[in-house]
Amino acid sequence: MPGRQICILGGTGFIGRALVSRLAADGHAVKVLTRDRNGNRDLLVLPTVKLVSADAHDPMVLEREFAGCDVVVNLVGILNERHLGHGKGAEFRRVHTELPMKVVRACRAAGVRRYLHMSGLKADSQRGPSHYLKSKGEAEDFIRRQCADGSPDFVIFQPSVVFGPGDEFINKFAAMLPIVPGVLPLACANARFAPVYVGDVAEAFARCIDRRDVAGQTFQLCGPEVHTLGGIVRDTAAALGLRRWILPLPDAASRVQAAIMDYVPGKPFSTDNYLSATLDSVCDCDGLAALGIERTSMRGVVPAYLRARSGRG
Ligand SMILES: NC(=O)c1ccc[n+]([C@@H]2O[C@H](COP(=O)([O-])OP(=O)(O)OC[C@H]3O[C@@H](n4cnc5c(N)ncnc54)[C@H](OP(=O)(O)O)[C@@H]3O)[C@@H](O)[C@H]2O)c1
Repeated sequence: MPGRQICILGGTGFIGRALVSRLAADGHAVKVLTRDRNGNRDLLVLPTVKLVSADAHDPMVLEREFAGCDVVVNLVGILNERHLGHGKGAEFRRVHTELPMKVVRACRAAGVRRYLHMSGLKADSQRGPSHYLKSKGEAEDFIRRQCADGSPDFVIFQPSVVFGPGDEFINKFAAMLPIVPGVLPLACANARFAPVYVGDVAEAFARCIDRRDVAGQTFQLCGPEVHTLGGIVRDTAAALGLRRWILPLPDAASRVQAAIMDYVPGKPFSTDNYLSATLDSVCDCDGLAALGIERTSMRGVVPAYLRARSGRG
């Protein structure tokens, strides 16, 4: 199969980096659009990768950068809005809904053949409990409507929480656990997830670059096991050799903790995160199996990067 011309938005992030490496290994020419070219120059060690400084929210820029591309991948996303407090979701809509709309229109104008879109598990424009899930769902609705004629054709991916070296999930608790004395009061401790390995997510995207039979499909991506958040934090503490007692907070207290965290710069947790966690992040069907990918267990990967982390620490 000849290498394709692929343009990626969000290619500098946690999942983006895994995907860019995976696609470069297949010999594809990968163009990564970024707001911070200098800060991501390390990606240029990959021989077929080009980094372009670009404002992805400008439709003219998108059309120009997509010209000559076979495939466009959009991984841009945020977990929280930058302003403090729990707002009306304008920034979520700008990044998760309006940007994909511009991307799809630019793909059509530039004659891009395929659009690969990163959404999230339980995204739903109508019933999504959080701005995150609603805004992701609105983008999905638009893509299915707009691309129904196959111009471009599309594939949507809905992962549960993603783990791997450099994640913001396990690593956040790994950073926090050594500094909490004995007891960690944990919000949403009973929330359920099926964490999926970043390498498997990248593989799913890579397999959808050329396959014709995946056009118009949505793939839920989950790992092989379902864990509660409390269980994940307990396992993380154990892997770090720390004796910590995880104290599950009742629902009302979780909500209050989230409302307080809304005002902490950087929002380590938020009301929007709390609302997303009211739904179980587990798959109804196995999108990785449908793509012929064997799911990687947390047990096989997480202890190694936690060890590397404590070695550094
Ligand atoms: N990580 C997970 O557990 C998980 C689970 C489900 C779904 N997802 C989805 O997967 C995607 C990637 O997640 P990730 O964890 O890799 O995220 P990440 O590490 O935070 O990376 C996000 C990327 O989006 C770009 N970006 C962020 N805000 C932007 C903005 N306002 N305008 C333009 N570009 C912006 C950044 O690019 P530059 O800074 O280079 O411009 C960055 O490369 C997101 O859509 C996320 O919702 C992630």
